[in-house]
Amino acid sequence: MDNRQLFKIAEEMMDKAYVPYSKFHVGAALVTKDGKVFTGCNIENASYPVTICAERTAFSKAISEGYTKFEKIVIASSGGKAWPCGMCRQFMMEFCDDDFQIISGDDENSLEVLTLKEILPRGFKL
Ligand code: THU
Repeated sequence: MDNRQLFKIAEEMMDKAYVPYSKFHVGAALVTKDGKVFTGCNIENASYPVTICAERTAFSKAISEGYTKFEKIVIASSGGKAWPCGMCRQFMMEFCDDDFQIISGDDENSLEVLTLKEILPRGFKL
């Protein structure tokens, strides 16, 4: 599936976000190496650090279904172009190769593509 279609799916997922505290909606569409798409939204909590980002929701859904190899993730947010937080970058580092793509934009016509290596240089991996 192409990035513009995936961005539309990520945008739709923003409606599912549970964000009573920040009101900042994020949606994600994660693609496995065999082409399956898993979606995610951010889910906040009254105890703020318990919040899970849209990206980690999507990864958790995929991994818990047995998918552990990933090609790319497309992210949409109510604030426009959004890049993963530090915790999500480290989460990705566990499962993704250096060339894993992170894609975001203000809309489907302004998508920017970065690799995990670019957003987390010299990341930690055992
Ligand atoms: N958030 C995400 O879901 N993904 C990102 O890439 C950045 C931040 C969420 C966490 C929290 O619910 C809200 O956005 C504001 O930080």
